[in-house]
Amino acid sequence: MGESAFLLLMQLLLAALVTKTGGATLRLELTGPSKAYLKSTVMFQCKLSELIFPRSCDLIKDSGDVLDTKLCESQPVTFYLKVDDRSEGEYFCRVRTKEQTETSNAVKLQVVIPVQGTHLASEPSPPIIYEGAGFTLRCHVRRGTLPTYVWYHNKQLVATSTPLHRLSGSTLTVEQASERHAGTYSCEAQNYIKDHTRHSSSRDITIVVKKYLSAPRLSFRLYHDDSGYRANISCRSERGTPPVTFQLLLDGKHMEAKQVYLLEAFFTLPVTVGLDMGVLRCSAQTDMHHLLSDPVDLEVAPVGGTAYIHMQYLWRTESVLPAALLQCNVTRGTFPIFSWSFNHSPVPPEGESHAIISHGSKLILIDINTGNSGYYSCRARDSFNSSSSWLESKEVMVNETGIGATYVEVIAVAFYCFLLVIIVGGACCLLSTIKCRRDHDTSPNDQHMDICEQTNRETETMSEAQVEEMETVIMEKEV
Ligand SMILES: *[C@@H]1O[C@H](CO)[C@@H](O)[C@H](O)[C@H]1NC(C)=O
Repeated sequence: MGESAFLLLMQLLLAALVTKTGGATLRLELTGPSKAYLKSTVMFQCKLSELIFPRSCDLIKDSGDVLDTKLCESQPVTFYLKVDDRSEGEYFCRVRTKEQTETSNAVKLQVVIPVQGTHLASEPSPPIIYEGAGFTLRCHVRRGTLPTYVWYHNKQLVATSTPLHRLSGSTLTVEQASERHAGTYSCEAQNYIKDHTRHSSSRDITIVVKKYLSAPRLSFRLYHDDSGYRANISCRSERGTPPVTFQLLLDGKHMEAKQVYLLEAFFTLPVTVGLDMGVLRCSAQTDMHHLLSDPVDLEVAPVGGTAYIHMQYLWRTESVLPAALLQCNVTRGTFPIFSWSFNHSPVPPEGESHAIISHGSKLILIDINTGNSGYYSCRARDSFNSSSSWLESKEVMVNETGIGATYVEVIAVAFYCFLLVIIVGGACCLLSTIKCRRDHDTSPNDQHMDICEQTNRETETMSEAQVEEMETVIMEKEV
């Protein structure tokens, strides 16, 4: 009796225990990473709503492979897993009793293969293009799960698409390349899991953006050696990407060709002074272009005929006093040099109120005053022959009272009035200026000059360049 009662008690106790463990009260919760690098070790933790020692907990995968078993003796139960090629899938933890099996939530693990073997390919290949053409760079990885890409141009990070580069996935595209796109490029493929980045960089690729060749310009200088005079002929393109092959032609006949890693080549030919040696041309050639220069006569005429001065008075805004431009001309002479004299003494190249420009053929009197009023003359001789004789011009008189209402000057005044319209712009001024111009159109007189002069003082001062510019305007009007 006592024995059967004990057994019954034991049975009841066991039933209660089973009910408790197998009932809805036991819950399992699995936590673990959603992504892991191949060959890394990850940790899963299984939390039980209560301890049910001495049972054991299993870590299972997908359809039920048991990967690991541990005693559920502490909270939480921790499993370590070395990630390999087959580790991707769903993970659970499970507690099995005779009557029942409890399974946790699923943790989905994605295996990330770290990027490896990044390399860059260009289209076109080799990466040499002419400006205006496009190119595409593709970043390839030998291995790696869904990498992201970053780009470097001349070691600078290109983080996003810019007006210069368009980024899209693993490609970088440039539609119309210019010089700014040239240089080195590299890409880097990256994986990123939590705080762990894996990256792999490509080698550099150098993009060469070639410039279009411009037509060459031919010019020559004369020099003397033991055999006599020779022309040092320059053939030069303003832009382009070397190497360039320059070829010299005399009367259409090929003379010489040179390939240079510059944009200019020099050739020499013997020259007899005073004789027409023929027509020179040169050509410039690259892999893409072939261009011809304008023809130039290979003729060196010695300075001859007469020398004469062409003079113009120019108004200057900052003073009432005008400036004057003196131009020395010779009837002929390919390589003249000039010198100037004032009241029979030489004019120094850098004077206080003089400026000699354009290889000495022009003299500008910045401010005509009593100090520089007087007689001017110029002379010219061959620059290549220091023993050649000077050709003298007649003297011209420059003084303050020379400012008559000459034709040139009237034009200058008209030009000022025109300038006035632009600067002052007001209706009042506009009207008076129109009147001023009308006055000038009919008959220039002193009153009209006063108006224009006074207003001129209010305008900005005139630079040397503006004097030049104005001179051009005047010359055009003279024509
Ligand atoms: C021709 O001129 C260039 C530029 O001045 C110079 O570098 C070159 O040496 C000259 N050549 C000869 C043969 O004098």
